[in-house]
Amino acid sequence: MSRLIVVSNRVNPPSGKGEESVGGLAMALAAALREYSGIWFGWSGKTTPEFTGQLNMQRVEGVTVATVDLEEGDYQEYYNGYANKTLWPLFHYRVDLTAYDRSFGEGYDRVNKRFAETLRPLIEPDDIIWVHDYHLIPMARELRRLGVTNRIGFFLHIPWPAHQLVVTLPRHRPLVEALFHYDVVGFQTEESLQAFEGYVFNEVGGEKTEDGRLRAFGQITEAGAFPIGIDADDFARITKSPRAMRVYDRMAAHSVFRKMVVGVDRLDYSKGLEERLLGFERFLHDHEDARREVMLLQIAPLSRDEVEAYQDIRSRLDGLIGRINGAYAEMDFTPIRYLNRSYRRDELAGVYRAAKAALVTPLRDGMNLVAKEYVASQNSEDPGVLILSRFAGAARQMKEALIINPNSPEEISDALAQALAMDETERKRRWEDLMDNVTRQDVTAWRDDFVAALKGDPTVMAANTETPDEPAVTT
Ligand code: ADP
Ligand code: F6P
Repeated sequence: MSRLIVVSNRVNPPSGKGEESVGGLAMALAAALREYSGIWFGWSGKTTPEFTGQLNMQRVEGVTVATVDLEEGDYQEYYNGYANKTLWPLFHYRVDLTAYDRSFGEGYDRVNKRFAETLRPLIEPDDIIWVHDYHLIPMARELRRLGVTNRIGFFLHIPWPAHQLVVTLPRHRPLVEALFHYDVVGFQTEESLQAFEGYVFNEVGGEKTEDGRLRAFGQITEAGAFPIGIDADDFARITKSPRAMRVYDRMAAHSVFRKMVVGVDRLDYSKGLEERLLGFERFLHDHEDARREVMLLQIAPLSRDEVEAYQDIRSRLDGLIGRINGAYAEMDFTPIRYLNRSYRRDELAGVYRAAKAALVTPLRDGMNLVAKEYVASQNSEDPGVLILSRFAGAARQMKEALIINPNSPEEISDALAQALAMDETERKRRWEDLMDNVTRQDVTAWRDDFVAALKGDPTVMAANTETPDEPAVTT
């Protein structure tokens, strides 16, 4: 079997203690690598005054983890800069938050080159290389420059935006051209794939080859949709673990948690947290009888907090939650509990299971794994209801959720009322359908499909199409 080399900015090897850090990419890759005796390469999370290229190697649960420190200036221009002030906001349709500084792009290219040079000596002829996410789009180009001829694939965990947004980047052509150095380029949804193809056809005169691949910039790549999933079996297992049960039992015993709605997200402006709170406020306003009963538990660990847009959303949320609690709390009841911290996975599973409904309301999201984790944590006897934004990639698959437009406080409020009043038969019917999807399209299926395509299996891309109809809107 060929070795798999996974390359991602953030490297979070499984600790075995359920404490892996926050973010969909880390969760998915930890699960995917468990099966391969591969290498996981990326940033150590540390900075040094000067780049040394020194590799830190360790062996964690069958995976060789190889990391490298970043120079402080690189960290600012590449991670805080191009990745999180340019590509992240733009790819989540926030042109208003997008910074177009030239130095960020230069730092981005420099770090990709440095990563490629550091990784190069580890690559053996039969390895297949799988690069992840928007931080590392130029990796294959840099590896090819160093003579690497191995199969290299790329998977984008976030949305690929519409053509008109991509062209706002001053150097959009080299960025897209860099993707044509990969053998396979994967997106979360058909919508992202079509947006990418739209750019390739209309901006640079690219075309489809007879066998369905994309030709542009004098190169050919295979682009496809590979919707990511969770490790559903593992989630079902940890939901029954003693720690998850303890969390669940504590909540079930306490009347405050009886009608709990949960939200779990990195504190990010793309997650629609303000809109969610406004929807919850509307619900409290419209449903007087629910005011002393329904509680929102919002868990939102801080993320990228050196970036101004993240500091802004944090202070806006602090203000909004203060306002809502100020207006609707009683001496012995607070409608919103808000926690800026991360939890162990087994604890989260217990919290998910105790919640009557989950609010997953991103304004844009590549997929959203929290939606899938919530479903996987439910008990078939008494499942909770998933309320899901139509703008999450997950909405393309999870059609039995209550699908809402997060920009509408009324839709959020109506969906909450519908979820909390839903009878057991309907909850079970919806949950069974959702669970079937979460189990079938899990992280193993995602990994196996992508790796098969990367190895050149022609049947995979054809099989990987989603049902074309729009997600149904609630009511
Ligand atoms: P993103 O990748 O944008 O953060 P996803 O919803 O796809 O969004 O993935 C988020 C992942 O991070 C999920 O696996 C979720 O369980 C995890 N996570 C989010 N908040 C917390 C938290 N407070 N504690 C632990 N894990 C968290
Ligand atoms: O899943 C999207 C993603 O941006 C990952 O690439 C990343 O690891 C995760 O969210 C968390 O963000 P960060 O690595 O910036 O903390």
